Amino acid sequence: MDFQKDSYGDELRLKAIEKFDLISDLEQLEQFKTELLGRKGSITELIKNISTLPSDEKKDAGKNANLIKIFFQELIQEKFEEYKSNDIDSHQSIDLSLPGRRRFRGSFHPTTVVLREISKVFTEMGFDSAEGPEVELDEYNFQKLNIPLDHPARDMWNTLWVDTTNDSSLKPLLMRTHTSPMQIRLMEKQTPPIRIIVPGKTYRYEATDATHEWQFCQVEGLVVDKGITFAHLKSTLEEFAQKMFGHKRKARFRCDFFPFVEPGAEVSIDCFKCDGADGCNVCGYSGWIEIMGAGMVHPEVLKGVGYDPEIYSGFAFGMGAERISMLKNGIDDVRLFYSNDLRFLKQFS
Ligand code: PHE
Repeated sequence: MDFQKDSYGDELRLKAIEKFDLISDLEQLEQFKTELLGRKGSITELIKNISTLPSDEKKDAGKNANLIKIFFQELIQEKFEEYKSNDIDSHQSIDLSLPGRRRFRGSFHPTTVVLREISKVFTEMGFDSAEGPEVELDEYNFQKLNIPLDHPARDMWNTLWVDTTNDSSLKPLLMRTHTSPMQIRLMEKQTPPIRIIVPGKTYRYEATDATHEWQFCQVEGLVVDKGITFAHLKSTLEEFAQKMFGHKRKARFRCDFFPFVEPGAEVSIDCFKCDGADGCNVCGYSGWIEIMGAGMVHPEVLKGVGYDPEIYSGFAFGMGAERISMLKNGIDDVRLFYSNDLRFLKQFS
């Protein structure tokens, strides 16, 4: 701003600037503002006094006094802002009493948890582990497992097909309905002895309800060697049941049909809640809980992969991972696993 020496109010202005330069805190700034611009402040007085001047001086004096007022208003405002931002900075750096913000920590998904538990039991028994494709050829999901095209056994699995109509070079493809196709893939690649589990996602064309999901996880198991018998199957799966559900558990094997095993079995454990005594809501008042399908690898399947069934035999089993977790953790609806509700998921950290 343009001030002329010795003009009206100039002396006051210079003195005020000197004072302003000495200000060192907010309190002094407040005081300075009152002294200058308050009701009885020196600039207020300066403006009031204009009326006492000779009329030919009034115009210039008025202009000068106003400039001085604006100059100090702006100067003071700037200083206020400066103090305000310093204040925020200093608070931020010294307020140690503010509680810290906890970092959100994720946790393993319950399916991952149970897959790890299942894998641990079998790894301790000397099993290897492998994974396989989720988009599978009809050949592996069905045909090589002794389920030919148009065989009624296919009705046991509701299937999601991959649309291959646009490309005639593609063989029929589907989302695998079970992890059993990996039995074939593993046997085709290796020679016995084989002792392996296959955890992985599986898919079915299902209307979902409390016990059915269109996508879930299975753990397949396969053992092939010379001299493998049903006794090996029984003891292995009983051991699994006890490690998973408590050392007192008994396993029950009842005939069941799966085209790729002979004989086939449905494996149940006696109810861990009511000990199989009177029955309860967990076992549906039967005393037994079904936990998986199993059986001796069908000779036709062995032949199909080039093994001589007179020399080699084996057993296989397959279980639903979520079902095992539901039983262990008292979860009553399989849809909870994939509905992304953090209240459910956080319980497994
Ligand atoms: N794959 C079968 C199913 O999904 C389970 C099974 C596996 C049965 C291995 C026998 C042997 O129902």
